[in-house]
Amino acid sequence: MSGTPDPTRPLRGRDLISAADLAPDEVRRVFATAERLKAEFAVTRRHAQLPLLRRTLAMLFERPSLRTRVTFEAGMIQLGGGAIQLTAGNVGWGVRESVADVARNLGSFVDAIIVRTGPHEVAVELAARADIPVINALTLHEHPCQALADVFTLHEIFGSLRGLVVAFVGDGNNVFHSLALIGAGQGVEIRLAHPPGYAPDPAVVARATALAEANGGRVVLANDPRAAVDGADVLYADAWTSMGQEAETEVRSAAFAAYQVNEALCAIAGPDARVMHCLPAHRGEEITSEVMDGPRSIIFQQSENRLHVQKGLLVEVLGDPA
Ligand code: CP
Repeated sequence: MSGTPDPTRPLRGRDLISAADLAPDEVRRVFATAERLKAEFAVTRRHAQLPLLRRTLAMLFERPSLRTRVTFEAGMIQLGGGAIQLTAGNVGWGVRESVADVARNLGSFVDAIIVRTGPHEVAVELAARADIPVINALTLHEHPCQALADVFTLHEIFGSLRGLVVAFVGDGNNVFHSLALIGAGQGVEIRLAHPPGYAPDPAVVARATALAEANGGRVVLANDPRAAVDGADVLYADAWTSMGQEAETEVRSAAFAAYQVNEALCAIAGPDARVMHCLPAHRGEEITSEVMDGPRSIIFQQSENRLHVQKGLLVEVLGDPA
């Protein structure tokens, strides 16, 4: 991004395409701002200061969204700015005009862009071409805003993150990739139990492992869900079929049948283990309603924190000094 870097505001003007774009101390900086904004918002559901006053955000969504879309738009409004929703049909990149031309236009209209698309390379190209910050709101390879909210939630519930054990049960997918990168940087032990053939990207595993080694965490991959959750503080369930993979639903349902987060699996982890899910959930598939609505679930706190963490991120990237 343009401008002279300000050491007191290291995230100002930055992109967030991969969870690895944020150093561990930068993640903690976002958490600190999010924590302050959440506490302030809890009192009157308003903010006394409006650090994003008259700032504008373009939200490019090529795929469906409830949480990401609403929390970014609500967050902008609550902090004094506004957001403009654009669908694939509006923009027509690659058909009506190139990603580069979309980036160049938006850069002169608004202050930042968030993008939800399939191919990760499109988000990377948009960030490279735009001279304003671009934030990844989900690609098939990563979901960094989700991971920020997830690890922030763990920080709220457990306090210290170092040595915490999170067992992700299911696909080595975009949600796992970003969770592994953010969690490892905070010293979390990230385990994944995946069916054969559904391993994560080895490059992400290597990067997360390096982050874990430098920060006191661990990354462990396995196929047996019972071994992975044994002694875990948290079980993380996610959809067996992600957006864009619908043609694989039948094959995936068979492959993931033994990877359901249910009471029997939670019992192996222990009585105090908590359960996460990034939502939307497919009740009766990757998670049972009994677990999702039961006392172990921190799923709706996790979802609410999308709002607070993204506000923290937006203020760090775009905001006026407090
Ligand atoms: N978890 C998540 O990104 O939800 P949405 O797809 O509804 O935005």
